[in-house]
Amino acid sequence: MKRTIFFKLIFSATILQFSNSTWAQINPYQYSISKTAKGSNGAVSSAHPIASMVGLEILKKGGNAFDAAIATQLALAVVYPGAGNIGGGGFLVAYTEKKKSISIDYREKAPAASDRNMYLDKNGNPLMELSQNGHLASGVPGTIAGLFSSHQYAKLPFTTLIQPAIDLADKGFVITAAEARSLNGTKSAFIKYNSVLPVFVKETAWKEGDTLVQKELAATLSRIRDQGAKGFYEGETARLIVEEMKRGKGNISLDDLKNYSAVQRPAISFDYKGYQVIGMPMPSSGGLLMQQMMKMIEDKNIAAMGFHSPSAVQLMIEVERRAYADRAEFMGDQDFVKVPVKTLSSKSYLKKRMEDFIPGKATPSDIIKPGNVNPESEETTHLSVADEFGNVVSVTTTLNGGYGSKTVVAGAGFLLNNEMDDFSVKPGVPNMFGAVGKEANAIAPGKRMLSSMTPTVVVKNKKPYLVVGTPGGTTIPTSVFQTLVNIIEFNQSPLDAVNNPKFHHQWLPDQVAVEQDFSPSLQQSLSNMGYSFQKRGQIGRTEVIKIEWQGKKIKQMDAVADKRGDDHAAAY
Ligand code: GLY
Repeated sequence: MKRTIFFKLIFSATILQFSNSTWAQINPYQYSISKTAKGSNGAVSSAHPIASMVGLEILKKGGNAFDAAIATQLALAVVYPGAGNIGGGGFLVAYTEKKKSISIDYREKAPAASDRNMYLDKNGNPLMELSQNGHLASGVPGTIAGLFSSHQYAKLPFTTLIQPAIDLADKGFVITAAEARSLNGTKSAFIKYNSVLPVFVKETAWKEGDTLVQKELAATLSRIRDQGAKGFYEGETARLIVEEMKRGKGNISLDDLKNYSAVQRPAISFDYKGYQVIGMPMPSSGGLLMQQMMKMIEDKNIAAMGFHSPSAVQLMIEVERRAYADRAEFMGDQDFVKVPVKTLSSKSYLKKRMEDFIPGKATPSDIIKPGNVNPESEETTHLSVADEFGNVVSVTTTLNGGYGSKTVVAGAGFLLNNEMDDFSVKPGVPNMFGAVGKEANAIAPGKRMLSSMTPTVVVKNKKPYLVVGTPGGTTIPTSVFQTLVNIIEFNQSPLDAVNNPKFHHQWLPDQVAVEQDFSPSLQQSLSNMGYSFQKRGQIGRTEVIKIEWQGKKIKQMDAVADKRGDDHAAAY
């Protein structure tokens, strides 16, 4: 499945030769979008064709999946400014050729000057505008620290991995129709939330085929190439971030930046019918929600119910409802609060959780309280990578909303996140994804805000089998859940598993969000059971790689990019 777009060339018909002259030729002025790719040596699936191609070139050049994931993320920070980033944060989940599970947390942190009531007025009313837009919405960025942390598993020098991004920023690339629409739609916000107008704002409307050049971003990336993580967290870049904060009443300080570090944490790992599912632990709710949802359906023979049968969808909605009720009550940054992970994921707890499930009848959310637990000791982006050695890397990274806080660091050319909105600004007050939270996810200096990002790896017979993830705020875990169930239980191809209509329930609000192409007759059957619905434009942009093995050798990698965006799969 290949869609080719020939862009009008604006100023150069020559293929971009990356500074490192051995680069194969990636033409950022003319490229096509491919939704599937097969190979046995390496595969990358990401939100943008140029970024996937950069990752694939790194694999061809001898890099492993970690090298390719780093280069792809950096390229996304240039070619997909709505979510690719160096001013945000993310999570990496990997399974290595040595059979080791890895998770790296580079989630943003609340600045030291934050406090739990910082988004409340004097009467205690929430000020969501401040948590969602502009300078005060930003947490301390983690992406660059995360890339350097993951580099310990890579093979090529960091300077090689960052150079494509520098060249793309410096020489420019042509934008797609979707990117043009998105930049035009955000123009007034860019004007409102920046004291110095960024390159994303121009007099006339953006159109498909226009070239986007980001010289200041190229200079920032060059400082990171030359000085390492200090090129971001100290010196000129840090000075520019803090100056930007002062101009817009933000609160990230030089010390916040200097003190930031990424953390390697034990990954979540659980068995589902013989498959090992590996996911992200707190401060992402993603891994634990996956474990809860998968384990709540495990004994129900969902395959026999049939794909998108009313009974299968109802079961999935009800497990989603119960898992998200627990998210709201218990989940947050474990460095700050006790999250009862052991109980929430235990067989007995999850069995009890399903005791009030009635097939054929909706359980109203107001009677589903968070479970009894005794104390015990829309915009994000995903990339999936696999290499010939048997390493797989699953990365989800985010600015939170599209273009994050909409504030670009003047002189440094990159967007800052609006991740502070992922905290619970006040108990029970919904954030931009409608998610509610309590004490566990209250703001505290240095704390990481709860996430839904769900980079996931599935291992079969001790060999990587699936690499999966998606953007989508709180819909992320339920999209990954459906993708895994579609492949493992309903025997679907990765392409069908990704592109089939999605649904989502998150306890509150008590309604099922469905995509436009969700079957009307299925919706009617579920309405008859007592469910109410909300139509959504699209849910997620899932990237999957499925790996088939022949003994110890990879037979085929099947890379799939979601139909819902410019997402592109590459393999060789
Ligand atoms: N900002 C979306 C998430 O982390 O879940």
